[in-house]
Amino acid sequence: LENGLARTPPMGWMPFERFRCLTDCAQFPRDCISERLFKRTADLLVSEGYAALGYKYLIIDDCWTEERRDNQTGKLLAHRERFPSGLHALASYIHARGLKFGLYHDIGTETCMFHGPGAQGHFQLDADTFADWQVDYVKLDGCYADELNLDKAYPYFGQALNSTGRSMVYSCSWPFYQEKPNYSLIAKHCNLWRFSQDVRDSYHSITYIMDHYRHRQHILQKHAGPGHWNDPDMLVLGNFRLSYDASRLQIAIWAVLAAPLIMTNDLETVRPEIKALLQNRDIIAVNQDELGIAGGCVATPENMEVWLRPIAPINNAGKHSYAIAIVNRGGLHECPLCPQIFEFTLSQLNLSNTMGYSVTNLFNRNDDLGLFMPSDKFSTRINPEGVTFYKFKSMDWY
Ligand code: GLA
Repeated sequence: LENGLARTPPMGWMPFERFRCLTDCAQFPRDCISERLFKRTADLLVSEGYAALGYKYLIIDDCWTEERRDNQTGKLLAHRERFPSGLHALASYIHARGLKFGLYHDIGTETCMFHGPGAQGHFQLDADTFADWQVDYVKLDGCYADELNLDKAYPYFGQALNSTGRSMVYSCSWPFYQEKPNYSLIAKHCNLWRFSQDVRDSYHSITYIMDHYRHRQHILQKHAGPGHWNDPDMLVLGNFRLSYDASRLQIAIWAVLAAPLIMTNDLETVRPEIKALLQNRDIIAVNQDELGIAGGCVATPENMEVWLRPIAPINNAGKHSYAIAIVNRGGLHECPLCPQIFEFTLSQLNLSNTMGYSVTNLFNRNDDLGLFMPSDKFSTRINPEGVTFYKFKSMDWY
């Protein structure tokens, strides 16, 4: 969507995978979906250094509304007990910290958790309400929308947002609810779109989404670019089930895909080594690369996968630099869960710059591997169900 927003993939935080639809604030005051959770997260995004690195969108997911609309005005209402100050006040709190405010809604009759009213029949009213509340980002889900033609309804809601005059990032779940999505249409009307299952806190879920992308990348890749991105769902780093290697895997592959980096975790309890991954500047730079070209999987030798993304700088001869992630999916007969060595000649991956590539380890910027020519071999050893991730910078003569 060409609305001037999301020129690079949006970055931020959203509670859903971690906090779900927890509404019992009497028993769980810290974790329930309430203004307290969003205020404390806003503070932590800033104080823990996430905001300065680009994690700016603080997005309320499902379960923020009253069960019914206001019976006089028909407007959506934030839950009175859990959001006592109202969403306008919460937006001000968020904006005062230099952050952006996002809100979940559903295009059908109910939200996905069946928690409150959807937008059906109220597109303009809801868009106007969001603009009044100073919303900067709308996540529009697609549950309970059987009566709608999504190819019409999503553009209509987008027009309603546009007509408010307030710029809002438009995140659509549209393709997820269709058998054969029309991605050209979706990319024209949305800034980002969910194309796969809800992410869960596991290696299995991350590789499921990677596989889903890989099998459709010939379609998905070309629709990504500044203003319009494929969304493989939230970053689950910092929760319970991901190993350190699986955490590396998710952030590396999400960078290759040019995916939105929307965390779902409790920023108060993210372990230091996971925080360092979420705050790795070199990986964020790959994710936010100015060229905005989405990468994909270019080779699947045995139990490995090679994921590659063209990035800046482009040298004088027009040769791109690359971010290359090598994944050890495990399961190799000889030793299913051991580290594995993978070796390739640069030219095999079409790295053909005759001036060579200066190679650095994206997980450790002090690890400078030197200059590699197209005919050189590059070798890497990868932990089981893990990844290594390098930048191949395209060189020039000086
Ligand atoms: C769907 C979405 C999730 C989340 C929930 C909320 O499942 O895909 O990301 O928003 O709805 O109910």
